[in-house]
Amino acid sequence: MRLPHRDPIRLGPTPYEVFQEKEGIPSVKGFFVEDLMDVEVKPWERMGALGSFLNLGEQQETDAYVCEIPPGKQTNPQRHLFETLVYIHKGRGATTVWFEENAKQTFEWSAGAIFAIPLNVAYQHFNASNEPVRFLGGTNAPHVINLFHNDDFIFRNPFQFRDRFRPEREFFEENKRLTVRSWESNLVPDVNQFALDDYPMKGKGVKIMRFGLAGTTYGCHVQEFPPGSRSTFHRHGPGAIVCVTQGEGFAMVWREGEERTRFEIKPGSIYSPGDLMYHGHFNTGHATLRHFAMRGRSPKYSQDRYRTKLHEMIPFDEEPPDIHPMYLEELEKKGVKSEISVVEE
Ligand SMILES: [Fe+2]
Repeated sequence: MRLPHRDPIRLGPTPYEVFQEKEGIPSVKGFFVEDLMDVEVKPWERMGALGSFLNLGEQQETDAYVCEIPPGKQTNPQRHLFETLVYIHKGRGATTVWFEENAKQTFEWSAGAIFAIPLNVAYQHFNASNEPVRFLGGTNAPHVINLFHNDDFIFRNPFQFRDRFRPEREFFEENKRLTVRSWESNLVPDVNQFALDDYPMKGKGVKIMRFGLAGTTYGCHVQEFPPGSRSTFHRHGPGAIVCVTQGEGFAMVWREGEERTRFEIKPGSIYSPGDLMYHGHFNTGHATLRHFAMRGRSPKYSQDRYRTKLHEMIPFDEEPPDIHPMYLEELEKKGVKSEISVVEE
């Protein structure tokens, strides 16, 4: 028997909520952001730039934020004991990372890049262009702050994880296939150009690559749906954050026994399925749909490769019967040929 979903028990603000209150920037809640370019950002003292938290999916395992660096400006140097993944949505610049002031390393990026800040390494982002830079950060700060609830320990901790970062130029050029659908790297220059592996169990033509970036334990992947393709539905625990990087379509989420919600998606759309919410991705455009998802653990440092019982997929022929005809109808309207027949694992 499955226990019913229940609302969280409120015992006053959590350490993460207290922390966030002090940060003094807006927080977007819910499950969906139509376009990260439209998120209102405010001066963010700790970051030294503009920002807004995204607290999506009604959970405190992960959070995300939109950060804007004005032309020619840079963020404040900082370090912390929570993992950070970065997706550059717009603009061009560089990031400097270091243990010691006299051994700094800098790498350059432009729109489409993903990378991770090695754990507790000092870092600073620079906007090298005449336009504002906008990036999406994803962190496990809620989990870490609720666990230790001590700012000195989290933000002013001198420990150096020498196994995570070597202050050498080559660090940012490392690129290695771990196994099928799994890659290790420290900088992916463009998520829309990276060659992905077939992932037929998720739907016909679907491709994926899971990344372990800079030794982080925070997992992420890039997924692709060719024109006329869609995924099956699945569900898992909370904390996944998905950002569309290319193409157009819709996503659908629902919790068992509740109404289905549909989000129209385009580059810059962000959504987060809540705990045990079924979710699926549909490409309705004439071009490829791709997204960058921050979720779970990185392939190497976890058991995430072994699916838990909570990770369930709905076989294509068992999903609610009105979904696929609705999708086909939309493809027809737009003159896109359907690729489905879904192949099961
Ligand atoms: Fe998922």
